Amino acid sequence: MSAPVLHRHADADALAAAVAAIMLEAVRGGGGLPAHLILSGGTTPGAAYRRFARALDPTVRPAFTLADERWVPSDDPRSNARLLRETLGEGPMAGFVPLWRGGATPEADAAAASAALADWPRPVDLVLLGMGEDGHTASLFPDDAQVAARLDPAAPPEVAVARPPSQPEPRLTHNLAALIAARRIVLMLKGAAKLDVLDRARAGDDARAMPVRAVLAHAPVPVEIHACP
Ligand code: 6PG
Repeated sequence: MSAPVLHRHADADALAAAVAAIMLEAVRGGGGLPAHLILSGGTTPGAAYRRFARALDPTVRPAFTLADERWVPSDDPRSNARLLRETLGEGPMAGFVPLWRGGATPEADAAAASAALADWPRPVDLVLLGMGEDGHTASLFPDDAQVAARLDPAAPPEVAVARPPSQPEPRLTHNLAALIAARRIVLMLKGAAKLDVLDRARAGDDARAMPVRAVLAHAPVPVEIHACP
């Protein structure tokens, strides 16, 4: 395990600027080959995505997908794909590989998304994660009955289905093995409460209780934690 590195930022603007800069480094660092990024949804990363989109060379077309997705249509207000579309803009989304695909079941979409991502190079260039106050990351939730299997670092990288009772809809999520197969792993946290949760996560080792612990424990590179109060 490589010890994580915590970067504290003064406020949300500085946090967004720092994460956008990392995204640009990941996109520009591929030696001319298209970069592959796995990005998170939720309420924290949108400002970083907007900054990134403004700075991105319009001729550069990285490939994106989501760390996880709510199993809702892509025009649903809860959709992470909608968040990416609204913050990155239509141009960069040309390289987007969706997890929700309109399949008959979450399992059908998970299988189709896994197949669509099968030819992605591993490790990917960047995985950007958030964390919930229950210690979940992506949609690896402590109350998901299947979480232990999703946290196996030796499992084949895949998109799986999660049905945590705490959430209003089924989730599609990359498993741990897919999330740690990355050259850079960034954990983006906003708010003092998240820093307290991070302290609790780092003080224990039961990943089923706080799945973010599995990323911190098994990441092959130091997780870059970027946080602001
Ligand atoms: C999602 C995210 C999820 C998120 C955390 C933190 O679908 O909601 O991918 O894993 O990163 O829940 O969410 P906030 O950024 O809203 O605190």
